[in-house]
Amino acid sequence: MPDVLHGAGPHASEIIALWRVALLICGVVFVAVLIALAAALWRAPAEPRAVPAIDESPALRQRGWRIVAASTAASLLLLFVLIAASVWTDRVLARVDLHGAQHIEVTAHQWWWELRYDDEDVARTFSTANELHVPVGRPVVFTLRADDVIHSLWLPNLAGKKDLVPGRPTTHVLRADVAGEYRGPCAEFCGAQHAGMVLTLIAEPQQQYDAWADAQRAAASSVGAPQLSRGRDLFEHGSCALCHTIAGTEAAGKMAPDLTHVASRRTIAAGVLPNTPQTLAAWVSDPQRVKPGSNMPPVALPPDDLQALVAYLGTLR
Ligand code: CUA
Repeated sequence: MPDVLHGAGPHASEIIALWRVALLICGVVFVAVLIALAAALWRAPAEPRAVPAIDESPALRQRGWRIVAASTAASLLLLFVLIAASVWTDRVLARVDLHGAQHIEVTAHQWWWELRYDDEDVARTFSTANELHVPVGRPVVFTLRADDVIHSLWLPNLAGKKDLVPGRPTTHVLRADVAGEYRGPCAEFCGAQHAGMVLTLIAEPQQQYDAWADAQRAAASSVGAPQLSRGRDLFEHGSCALCHTIAGTEAAGKMAPDLTHVASRRTIAAGVLPNTPQTLAAWVSDPQRVKPGSNMPPVALPPDDLQALVAYLGTLR
C-alpha cells in the first residue's frame, strides 16, 4: 500500500491536513470521555447500598446541570470547527488553478483501467491502459466512467477518492508536484479481482512526458525478423486480435487493453505482475492461474509460437 499520509500535490496535501485536524479533535474528545468514565467509576460506591440515597442538595444538582451544559456546548463547538475545516478545505481545492490542464478519460473495467488522452487535435489523442503518465506541476482533469460495475479511483498521494459509476460520468482533478511513481489500487469492491486492479501514475518532467506521449501516439513499428513477424501474425490472426488493439496492425479489438505500446509499461494484468518476457508468457498461456476470474481466455500455443508471440509483444515499446 502507498503511504497515504504523504501528499505529493495540493489536493492530497489539503485533505491530509483536514484529516489531521479531525484526528486531533476526535483524539482529544476520546481521551476526555475516557477520563470522565474513569472518574465516574472511581467515585462510584464499591458496593450497592441497601437503600439508594437520594441525596441531592440544590447546589449539587446545579453543578451537574452546569457540567452537562458545558460538555454539550463543547461538543457543538468542536463539530462546528470540523464543519468549518471541511468547508475551508473544499474552497481551497476549488481554487486550484486548472488552466492548461491535461484531459484524460478513465474507464474502469473488470479488472483494468482504460486511459484515453484527449487533445484538441483529434489526431493526437491516444489510448493506453493501467499506467498513467502526467507532467509534473500540470493539473490533470479526468472524466471517469465505468463499464460494468462501480469502481473507485484513489491515488492517495495525489487526490481524494472518487467512484466510477456505470452510466454516470464524473470529473476528478489532481496535480502531481513531485515526480515519482504513485499506486492507485481500485478502492471499491468490484469482484474477484478487485485487488488485481491497480492504476499506476507516473509523474515526470514535461519534456520526459512529451517524449512518452509522442511515443504512445505512434503506431507499432513494423518488424523484420522472421520470429517477430511470426509473432505478429499469431497476434493478428489468432484470438488476441478479437479483444486487443495494436495500432498499425489488423488487430483492432476493443474489449481489452490497447497493446500498441505494451512493452513500455512496467506491469501487466493491471499491476498484478512485472512486465518481463517470462511473466508475459505465463499470463498469455494461462491467465486464469495468474488472475482467476479475468476475462482473458487461455491461449494454447506450441512453445515456439508462444516465444514468437512474446518476443513480438516485447518489441511494442
Ligand atoms: Cu475495480 Cu475494485
